[in-house]
Amino acid sequence: MDKKSVLLIIGGGIAAFKSLELIRLLKTRGLGVTAIMTKAAEQFVTPLSVASLSGNKVYTDLFSLTDEIEMGHIELSRSADLIVVAPATADLIAKMANGLADDLASTTLLATDKKVLIAPAMNVRMWQHAATQRNIAQARRDGVAMVGPNDGEMACGEFGPGRMAEPAEIVAAIEAQFSVPTRSLQGRKVLITAGPTHEPIDPVRYIGNNSSGKQGYAIAEAAVALGAETILISGPVNLPLPPGAQVMPVETAETMLKYTEDELPCDIAIFAAAVADWRVAATSDEKIKKTGSGTPKLDLVENPDILKTIATRKSKRPKIVVGFAAETENVIENAKKKLAAKGCDLIVANDVSPASGVMGGDTNIVHLVSAKGVETWPRMSKREVAQRLMDRLAAMLAQS
Ligand SMILES: Cc1cc2nc3c(=O)[nH]c(=O)nc-3n(C[C@H](O)[C@H](O)[C@H](O)COP(=O)(O)O)c2cc1C
Repeated sequence: MDKKSVLLIIGGGIAAFKSLELIRLLKTRGLGVTAIMTKAAEQFVTPLSVASLSGNKVYTDLFSLTDEIEMGHIELSRSADLIVVAPATADLIAKMANGLADDLASTTLLATDKKVLIAPAMNVRMWQHAATQRNIAQARRDGVAMVGPNDGEMACGEFGPGRMAEPAEIVAAIEAQFSVPTRSLQGRKVLITAGPTHEPIDPVRYIGNNSSGKQGYAIAEAAVALGAETILISGPVNLPLPPGAQVMPVETAETMLKYTEDELPCDIAIFAAAVADWRVAATSDEKIKKTGSGTPKLDLVENPDILKTIATRKSKRPKIVVGFAAETENVIENAKKKLAAKGCDLIVANDVSPASGVMGGDTNIVHLVSAKGVETWPRMSKREVAQRLMDRLAAMLAQS
């Protein structure tokens, strides 16, 4: 990472204070940091703080005679190895998506030929607004990389997506941009299941669960990044499709199993989906109505056990089979039992009790349970869990 330099554009949001910690972390990693601050950013942190921490002049003005003579804005945009926008305000993202250039930050972003990484940060309603989502989609299409936003409590007191990724996560995303990609799964096929299943009761109702699919989707992204042919069999979720993965949407456990079997053989199969254990024995073709004579009786039957079915196959068993164990108590003990009962090679166990914030959240604490023992990883983002897990599985595959 030595000698690499980052041009950090600080937008005018509450999260601007976190950019100071970001600069500190980047400096301790030996990276050069030059900063541009928008006029709005100066309302939240001072150029003096940014200059002191970065050890470099801070640029704020497009029409500054001295700055233009010293380092023209075009040169500023090209001199860095990577441009990072943190916090990326709704306004800056809109300007990027539409090619506006009416201040130093937006002009620099339009004039650059370097990779741009943004860390969006805004109120949940601003984030969810159709205009912002349109702009984000356009920025992604233009090749802009993104870290976060995370779910969490906002400075404004609301809760939801929009919190800027933590400085350590942004540093990890920056390091990922600089690292030479290892294609350790080139020529390998990886199959991942993710999300919940929906088991129909009648045409409008189903049995489901709260799985967001975030961990499975992050694993698919990590598998693509390592060069694997990646098949993602996904229950109904509300997530952007991971670029490069072949996504097969399903509703029920039975279809999930069928699609999984159709995709064999494969090298690694990771079962991260929260598959419903039961389905309704006889689904109704018509919407079940209230009759006034009591509640309807729903007979349940067990769904196929996808993990066990695949892990215990005599033919076309994937070389490595990984199960996820979502537990609310005795996480490790239950995972050990699951490892033995299902015949898989590894269980990734996580605590999904409401207090853990894992279900639907952006971070995870996982325990890797295998015949060799138990390894507990510290809390990290689901993306980081995914990257570490795929690196580990690639190494296991290389040894097998
Ligand atoms: C107290 C306060 C907090 C704000 N926080 C944010 C924020 O977190 N994200 C955002 O997109 N805009 C936020 N805004 C609005 C921006 O500051 C405003 O859109 C500004 O024009 C952005 O300018 P810039 O994109 O050039 O930095 C905030 C405004 C105020 C007054």
